[in-house]
Amino acid sequence: MEKKIQPSDGIIVLKDLSKSFGKNVVIDDISLTVEKGKTTVIIGPSGCGKTVLIKHIIVLLRPNSGEVYFHDQRIDNLPEKELNAIRTRMGFLFQGGALFDSLTVYENIVFPVRQHHHIKNQKKLDELVKTKLAMVGMDGFQGAYPAKLSGGQKKRVALARAIALSPEVILYDEPTTGLDPIRSDVINELIIKLQKELGITSIVVTHDMASAYKIADRIIMLHNGKMLIDGDAEQIRNHSDAVVQRFINGQAEKSDLKALRQSSADIKIEDIEQ
Ligand SMILES: Nc1ncnc2c1ncn2[C@@H]1O[C@H](COP(=O)(O)OP(=O)(O)OP(=O)(O)O)[C@@H](O)[C@H]1O
Ligand SMILES: [Mg+2]
Repeated sequence: MEKKIQPSDGIIVLKDLSKSFGKNVVIDDISLTVEKGKTTVIIGPSGCGKTVLIKHIIVLLRPNSGEVYFHDQRIDNLPEKELNAIRTRMGFLFQGGALFDSLTVYENIVFPVRQHHHIKNQKKLDELVKTKLAMVGMDGFQGAYPAKLSGGQKKRVALARAIALSPEVILYDEPTTGLDPIRSDVINELIIKLQKELGITSIVVTHDMASAYKIADRIIMLHNGKMLIDGDAEQIRNHSDAVVQRFINGQAEKSDLKALRQSSADIKIEDIEQ
């Protein structure tokens, strides 16, 4: 008999999840239980399936096999209409921020609210936007267009939009990529603040190990479609696996360097001078 998943198992449960695109097996039978109120960080090399994995959590992608549960309810097989209600309970900070450039900061934040609720009261909307922007330190920027904002400010506005509907879970896809260390740390502090003050469950995909160590209750590393490691910061730092150590310390393999030497030897001076 199939094991009944219990609510105590976690706010989000992935069970025997597999996903392929054609012959490309990206997720290979992964099971994962995400604890409520905790910050789970997902690391792993580019293209290993981090974004694909978290897109399954809000069912932007559907698995080839396996199941996704949110609060003990199976969601991977729900029709789009029913998923909309579930998605209001999860915020998603997309890789790259993805604000609407033609809309002001105010309109960007109001966008998901208008999609899911029929709040007509202008004062209520103004208050909501103000509160969300204040949480990320961006109150006062309501009338600005994204083009006028720095990378860090855009990420903060995108975060304000992700929390517009007061979600229980936030999925962050590389929230600090492209930011300098100080601005990255502002985002780290925001993730911690949302967890502490609002009890939000966070799942954060990152390449930024300083950020991972700072915010994570738990770190998972994906490799070849599987979870290679699963532990706290200390366990990851001290992990004996060479693949893990090379990844967290940013060391290329000898074979990578050999390929690099080979390709630079092929470049002729004439090519550089052109
Ligand atoms: N919609 C899609 N159709 C076909 N292949 C896809 C699709 N989405 C992702 N893939 C493939 O799945 C694999 C994993 O992609 P994914 O975007 O999850 O990587 P990632 O770990 O997030 O990488 P990065 O760190 O560069 O963001 C890649 O080989 C990618 O080409
Ligand atoms: Mg990605």
